[in-house]
Amino acid sequence: MVCLGNICRSPLAEGILKSKLPYDHFKVDSAGTAAYHIGNPPDKRSIAVAAQNGIDISHQKARKFSQDDFDHFDKIFVMDHSNLDNIMQMALTPDDLNKVALLLGEDEVPDPYYGNENGFKKVFDLIDRACDQLSEELQKMQS
Ligand code: 4NP
Repeated sequence: MVCLGNICRSPLAEGILKSKLPYDHFKVDSAGTAAYHIGNPPDKRSIAVAAQNGIDISHQKARKFSQDDFDHFDKIFVMDHSNLDNIMQMALTPDDLNKVALLLGEDEVPDPYYGNENGFKKVFDLIDRACDQLSEELQKMQS
């Protein structure tokens, strides 16, 4: 799961998808395309909205997406078109490129950083719905 800072959207996406998958069969992680927040915990507002929904993301630490991630993950979901452009530019092979998709298909998960708590609730709901579908697809692929 990839966004810009790895403190607002993608930590939520990591926590939400993990909560819907059997933990011993899937590796779910998140990263940012920017280095601003490396090592920081998620934004307090993301931690709060996750906690309101029974998910603890407070232990996560921001990291920057790296070239190696293409080799370590089968799917790379990005939150918006800017993330998509940045990650696609890092792809070295057609296989790498094929792994990358917008989490919402054609739509974006809007950046809530400069907004208020309502924006974080909206982001939670968008990601939660997408991960319902995604977790079913991933478990079907695996069985
Ligand atoms: P995220 O949100 O990409 O969902 O983690 C942002 C976090 C930080 C900044 C921008 C977006 N920032 O400019 O520091």
